Amino acid sequence: MKSIQMVNLVSQYEKIQTEVDQKILEVVRSSQYINGPEVKSFSEELSRFLGVKHVIPCANGTDALQIAMMALGLKPGDEVITASFTYIATVEVIGLLGLVPVLVEVDPETFNLDVNAFEAAITEKTKAVVPVHLYGQCANMEEILRVAKKHDLKVIEDAAQAIDATYTFSNGDAVKAGCMGDVGTTSFFPSKNLGCYGDGGAVFTNNDELAISIRQIANHGQTVRYHHENIGVNSRLDSLQAAVLRIKLGHLKEYTEARQFAAAYYDEAFKNETGLLTPKRDAKSSHVFHQYTIKTRGQIGMRCKIF
Ligand SMILES: Cc1ncc(COP(=O)(O)O)c(C=O)c1O
Repeated sequence: MKSIQMVNLVSQYEKIQTEVDQKILEVVRSSQYINGPEVKSFSEELSRFLGVKHVIPCANGTDALQIAMMALGLKPGDEVITASFTYIATVEVIGLLGLVPVLVEVDPETFNLDVNAFEAAITEKTKAVVPVHLYGQCANMEEILRVAKKHDLKVIEDAAQAIDATYTFSNGDAVKAGCMGDVGTTSFFPSKNLGCYGDGGAVFTNNDELAISIRQIANHGQTVRYHHENIGVNSRLDSLQAAVLRIKLGHLKEYTEARQFAAAYYDEAFKNETGLLTPKRDAKSSHVFHQYTIKTRGQIGMRCKIF
């Protein structure tokens, strides 16, 4: 049997090698390694791609969540509702900031936040909700935003696994993952759909005031150099990563389509396999298949031949 690597970053690199090698040399020779022109250009290009006003790059997706929560002014003791089924980072930062994580069930078919469970968990201490667009498909944002508005809660979308997924609201508005709530976050970890060659992340928002605060927090609480107005963190994307991301952003549509093609292929290959449940597609969200996740039921035969 042929073994298939879950993520083959080398073969992806080989396809863009000339561009990447040349750009990396350019950045090294420029000596502008932190917050240089590459970072600015990447942030503008990603902002155009996503259709969101502000993209603030930072050091990784975990920091992006932390910075977002700090910028929203969440205080120790505030309750933050999120999915019980997510990557550790989502909950870790809630705990790190002294906030209280309230974990609620996910929909067993989409693995995303169950809206009824979310609403039932709201108390007078609840200040925010963090829907996670797990595996590359958006959570039920229309309902999450409705409930959040009703209870005056901030919405922080964890879009680490869902860059380029699109959610379509009932009025026909189509919005990218991470760009629907007060603030959205993502990760550029190498194996992510848009991954760099180290750590990286970003925060998205359409709110100008919040963007200033996010930028400030990500850079030691300063807007003007050495004028530290707030407590911040040191969380910046370096220029080499931004340069790689700019190149890969140019290929993101093609990467997404390749993932969707592979997912359709798996669906077909598994369709007669009664022991397997293939990923459910939500009619309102495109799926960018950060992961193609199957569920098993009873004993699985090995009848399906993939390659
Ligand atoms: C859902 C989710 N949130 C947050 C993160 C954190 O991102 P990073 O590894 O860049 O800190 C990840 C990374 O795997 C993730 O999958």
